[in-house]
Amino acid sequence: MHFNHRHILITGASGGIGAALAQALAREGASLLLHGRNPDALNDLAGQCLHLGAQEVQICCADLAIATGREQLVACVSRGFPRLDTLINNAGISRFQLFDQQPPEQIEQLITTNITAPILLTRALIAPLLNSDGEAPVILNIGSAFGSIGFPGYSTYCASKGAIRLFSEALAREFSDTALRVQYLAPRATRTHINSDNANAMTAATGSAIDSPERVARAALKLLRSGRAQAAVGWPEKLLVRLNGLRPELISRVLGKQLGKIKTFANQP
Ligand SMILES: NC(=O)c1ccc[n+]([C@@H]2O[C@H](COP(=O)([O-])OP(=O)(O)OC[C@H]3O[C@@H](n4cnc5c(N)ncnc54)[C@H](OP(=O)(O)O)[C@@H]3O)[C@@H](O)[C@H]2O)c1
Repeated sequence: MHFNHRHILITGASGGIGAALAQALAREGASLLLHGRNPDALNDLAGQCLHLGAQEVQICCADLAIATGREQLVACVSRGFPRLDTLINNAGISRFQLFDQQPPEQIEQLITTNITAPILLTRALIAPLLNSDGEAPVILNIGSAFGSIGFPGYSTYCASKGAIRLFSEALAREFSDTALRVQYLAPRATRTHINSDNANAMTAATGSAIDSPERVARAALKLLRSGRAQAAVGWPEKLLVRLNGLRPELISRVLGKQLGKIKTFANQP
């Protein structure tokens, strides 16, 4: 895949992984529509992307957790970025906290941001993507290793990423008789602001690796180039995901041994 002919929308481009993705695609000469909620961060990033070699960069500010925000982003595409051929659903939020302590309104916000928003945005943009007369259309959904492994303290986040994993798989199969390709990338823990101090402390205490956003961006470009349906970032997570599918009780045993430690960090009454 050559990115220099592509017109790519990245949601959540102002965040850690989104910005690294934007920079990596800019180096390849792509045309970019950068979405986020913070206009200053987006303007800074747009300047960097132009400097790095992007053909064209536009920005669009919108809150995807509300219908009018999603409509705003769709309007940005139809008004200013009509040659869209690649949608990267990357915006998301996380919450590391014991389930019975999570405020219901924050659970709802997470489900809306991580599931409802990307699915409805995809629904709104699928016709323009299918009708794009340039490059073959692509949708890349950014999931998580936690979309395949239920992890204590991350119940609602795991639910949201598991939903996006199956959404991606079903959509890829439904559109496999068209030019549209649907892909899913599952990063493991990555150093960005999405993770709270407690989440970072738990990751360190359990000896889990943490990637740079640039590593995730490289994996995303590799996946886009490969055309494969899905990919995960990092060992041993790739293996653990497979093992969890085959023998979930083995992963339950491993996590059971670490449960006390995990709960110490997830306990935030
Ligand atoms: N970091 C990790 O450990 C990790 C691991 C696996 C998967 N992921 C996934 O990677 C993706 C990117 O996360 P990140 O780590 O880069 O996090 P991040 O640095 O916090 O960035 C999240 C991005 O999503 C945007 N966003 C959040 N809520 C939004 C809303 N209601 N409307 C519009 N935009 C919204 C944020 O915009 P604002 O800047 O305006 O808040 C920001 O641009 C997420 O889907 C996440 O689940 C992350």
